[in-house]
Amino acid sequence: MSQVTLKIEEGIACISVVRPEALNALNREIVDEMDQLLDQVEKDDSARCLIFYSEKNFAAGADIKAMAECDEEGAKAFAFSPVYNKIADLPLPTIAAIEGYALGGGMELAMTCDIRIAGESAKMGFPEVTLGIFPGAGGTIRVPRAVGEAFAKELIFTGDAVSAQRALQMGLVNRVTADTDVYAEAEKMAKRIAKRGPVAIRMVKEVIRRGLEEPDQNRAIEIEAEQWARLFTTYDQKEGMKAFIEKRKPRFENR
Ligand code: CAA
Repeated sequence: MSQVTLKIEEGIACISVVRPEALNALNREIVDEMDQLLDQVEKDDSARCLIFYSEKNFAAGADIKAMAECDEEGAKAFAFSPVYNKIADLPLPTIAAIEGYALGGGMELAMTCDIRIAGESAKMGFPEVTLGIFPGAGGTIRVPRAVGEAFAKELIFTGDAVSAQRALQMGLVNRVTADTDVYAEAEKMAKRIAKRGPVAIRMVKEVIRRGLEEPDQNRAIEIEAEQWARLFTTYDQKEGMKAFIEKRKPRFENR
């Protein structure tokens, strides 16, 4: 039976893990299912934003019971990084809506998203060292990039989970809401993004990624300028500016 669901409504896609008996711990089958659903999202021209949200608990990490007896080769086969990289590289914006526990591979999934929103009693962290391993699904790279080296090392070396407020102070999450409002808040933000020029949103996500990866700042600024100018070949740029001048809402067509 499927343990991952996808719904796409009014331009907002949502992927959810449904494995409440294990606090939505992630195993190979779940991550492979997610992989296939990502293809569906990418193919759906109406999708403007993707939310990852699972009821009660975002995900209590990779499935420890499934991993416990792995040897080195088995551990490599268990690794989630190829799918996580695919999420990080999706052209459309992604939001992690975090309720309850987001630990280990669960929090690493949240770290692949562009934006993170947490409920006030969410608990987030990287407890891998308590199990004799370390984060192995992009955490050692994405966490320091998000919060800086010192906070990343504190989180990863202690393995302690932090509260939503502490995560907010560190910059691990963008905002904190009431527990009951986590999905609604993510959906509200997704809808705001969905109203913006879709070509510009996809292009700016790519430009930000390339800028962060580009060691030469001047080259990064050149890339920005090239892509920015390219937008003036699009229908949506003409429509967006015309709508402003005519004092009406734009009708973007994603072209
Ligand atoms: N893997 C497998 N099963 C898990 C799990 C996990 N990561 N997390 C929770 N579960 C299961 C528990 O075994 C339990 O199942 P049973 O009833 O069959 O025993 C059920 O979910 C409920 O969990 P608890 O009884 O433990 O619930 P709790 O409220 O007392 O504690 C918790 C909650 C603090 C999150 C605790 O479950 C916990 O510490 N979980 C493990 C968290 C963790 O270490 N995650 C990192 C995994 S390693 C990883 O992610 C590697 C990577 O980099 C990819």
